[in-house]
Amino acid sequence: MDGVRGSSLEPVVSVVETRAFGTIASIGFGTLSATVWQRDRRLEQDQRATYDQGEWAMFTGVDCKGDDMDASRWAEVDAYISDVLIPADPVLDGALEASRDAGLPAINVAPNQGKLLHLLARIQGATSILEVGTLGGYSTIWLARALPPTGRLISLELDARHAEVARTNLERAGLTGVTSVLVGPAIGSLESLAKDEAGPFDLVFIDADKPNNPEYFAWAVKLARPGSIIIVDNVIRNGAVADSDSEDLGILATRRLNEAMAADPRVSVTEVQTVGSKGYDGFALALVVGS
Ligand SMILES: C[S@@+](CC[C@H](N)C(=O)[O-])C[C@H]1O[C@@H](n2cnc3c(N)ncnc32)[C@H](O)[C@@H]1O
Repeated sequence: MDGVRGSSLEPVVSVVETRAFGTIASIGFGTLSATVWQRDRRLEQDQRATYDQGEWAMFTGVDCKGDDMDASRWAEVDAYISDVLIPADPVLDGALEASRDAGLPAINVAPNQGKLLHLLARIQGATSILEVGTLGGYSTIWLARALPPTGRLISLELDARHAEVARTNLERAGLTGVTSVLVGPAIGSLESLAKDEAGPFDLVFIDADKPNNPEYFAWAVKLARPGSIIIVDNVIRNGAVADSDSEDLGILATRRLNEAMAADPRVSVTEVQTVGSKGYDGFALALVVGS
């Protein structure tokens, strides 16, 4: 669940993303300081400089920011939801802060999305979780906290630096006993997990490079069991998924994924559009119904 921030969105998103940090938790939209705004602007510029254009596009993909007015309102409501329902959490907030400090792109799920993942894992009674796309471990922490002490979560990450930040964050969260981060291209890691008969996983969360989503989903089904759930993030992309002329690799892959899921009798799937601090996007939720 990644976010794309354009210049017009920055002041609003700054509030949401910095809400986690105690010192500015109470800053309202009307009184957002120029300092915070400029700091976030610099942060994004630094992040873009850290990654080449191709990598940045891989992380962020299609622009999801929506119209200015809409985006402000969505972010405002997300901030409200988080303020009311998701209390500040030093571990989760610290994980975001450490990720920022390490220069990781701010493309983690939003707090309310993380809580949704957590609740889905609990509803599922998951004892084994697979995540594709770790970044700094923010969604990993939300998911791993749903596990019993004997549970396990394996998260797959291409970038060794991201994995290192995630491992440190998971250690601070007291979750090293139930989590492991495997470094390398996820398809290779998924092949190894299948070879090692590491499944079945009760819940799979797919949130890495979008062009590989059809392959990730195919592996997820192989590593699941009837009753498992698979969540695929970023399947709407500002509505671009409905554009049959799109040449964006991520959109083409999402459309292929949708066709594959629709034709696969082993899964029952829906998709939900979402708006919020991360723009206009959505997720797919699949229940594995057969093997
Ligand atoms: C959107 S971020 C994940 C965000 C994370 N799920 C969260 O919400 O906190 C995507 C991550 O996938 C990783 N990634 C990109 N391509 C990958 C690949 N081929 N294999 C494994 N990970 C990949 C990126 O390095 C990035 O850290």
